[in-house]
Amino acid sequence: MENENNKEKTIGYPKEVINLLNDPRFFGRMNDPTGSAYLKGPCGDSMEFYLIIEDDRIADIKYYTEGCGATRACAAMVAYLAYNKAINQALDISAGEVIQQLKGLPEDHLHCSILAVSTLYRAIADYLLRF
Ligand code: FES
Repeated sequence: MENENNKEKTIGYPKEVINLLNDPRFFGRMNDPTGSAYLKGPCGDSMEFYLIIEDDRIADIKYYTEGCGATRACAAMVAYLAYNKAINQALDISAGEVIQQLKGLPEDHLHCSILAVSTLYRAIADYLLRF
């Protein structure tokens, strides 16, 4: 149970998830992305991805979410996996790969990985359909 100080619930999270909860490397928004997307999961958590794509490669990437720790860790992992990848390689990133890289997620947070990769796919589609 979360306490009154709104402390993050991290019980049951592998250390790989905990390490990425507040990772600042790719966190934030972008003013002029070449592709972006916003998605809301069935739980109410939302996610945003922003991409700079140059020569069919993800030259920069940012994500923003106010979701739970698992959501933030999944988004951060997706950003690490997608950064500097060709678009086709980025589209190969799966929810299963994200879960594997994070060394697992609690059963009730598996969908966080799906939200993260789905938002990435949508941001890539936004780019592909615009340029
Ligand atoms: Fe729903 Fe993480 S709890 S996306």
